[in-house]
Amino acid sequence: MKERILSGMRPTGKLHLGHLVGTLDNWVKLQDDYECFFMVADWHALMSEYADTHSIKENILDNVIDWLSCGISPKKSTIFIQSQVKEHLELYMFFSLITPLGLLERCPTYKEQLREVTNRVLSTYAFLGYPVLQAADILLYKSQVVPVGEDQLPHLELTREIARKFNRLYPVRKDTSRNTKFSNGVYKKEIFPEPEAILTKASRLLGTDGRKMSKSYNNYIALSDTLEVVRKKTQSMFTDPLRIKFADPGHPEQCNVHSYYAIFAPDRKTELDGLCRKAQIGCTDCKKELGQILVKILEPIQEKRDDLVKNKKHIFEILEQGKKEASKVASETIEEVKSLLKL
Ligand code: TRP
Ligand code: SF4
Repeated sequence: MKERILSGMRPTGKLHLGHLVGTLDNWVKLQDDYECFFMVADWHALMSEYADTHSIKENILDNVIDWLSCGISPKKSTIFIQSQVKEHLELYMFFSLITPLGLLERCPTYKEQLREVTNRVLSTYAFLGYPVLQAADILLYKSQVVPVGEDQLPHLELTREIARKFNRLYPVRKDTSRNTKFSNGVYKKEIFPEPEAILTKASRLLGTDGRKMSKSYNNYIALSDTLEVVRKKTQSMFTDPLRIKFADPGHPEQCNVHSYYAIFAPDRKTELDGLCRKAQIGCTDCKKELGQILVKILEPIQEKRDDLVKNKKHIFEILEQGKKEASKVASETIEEVKSLLKL
């Protein structure tokens, strides 16, 4: 029996190369070794975007199309939208009962967002509870493993604490008939596992201007950018600031273009290193070649995307099927939880 994974993404914008090499590549690989649930976390998006919700619906479909284009397969994995499985909210409520306020107030991601985000009001009841909903997402499926980036580790730690506390407060009775059978076939006295993180290698990919790749800096190459735009954006990338003229020897280790080679064309990287240091290749050519490499990677993804966009009905069917599969597991967990709470 395979272990189970749940992971999710907030539908807050277009997906870009950073998502491809940070998250999606990883998800695609995990599909073969785990029973995977991949979720569009639209309720989590609402927790910060509640005042301007107009693009969430569009982003949901757009992101799912990108997932499918990159190789997330409905034959292997369950793909669904959080808000279509109401049990997430139910478990979130049960977890709210036992989550100490102090844990949430001290959560580093919460404190950081309150500090950093200035264009939205995040001092809300819902936003404080963000990690509680995330714990519900994960534990509703008794997910043993959660692939996340480093920034999400505090949420996973909170999930583990909530699981521990719930298990302690509401133990499953000792007779085996009532014990919980995990998907790996093992009977446990606790209802919830304490999930482990699989750390997604922090994507070393920076934006085209050398800053953190981000929607707000508009410095990303979207998976759905036309190939022409991909070439243009690549051509506009910042390079080694010390290399001004062609004859200046370059410092590849300081060049953002070079770090793209490291990720997308590691075979070519070493060779390029030498050429750059000896000033035998110019930055324009170097970037032109990178543009071609990126186009080669994105072309097949975009071909799939074009097919998918033509048949939206098919995508709605996938999401409907995902909702059914997710709901089946989710409703079983809620039944167990209710019976443990004697409801
Ligand atoms: N908070 C996660 C993020 O911003 C998204 C998310 C929501 C998630 N629910 C989840 C990730 C459950 C993993 C598991 O990236
Ligand atoms: Fe960067 Fe390439 Fe220019 Fe070297 S040649 S500085 S690696 S863009």
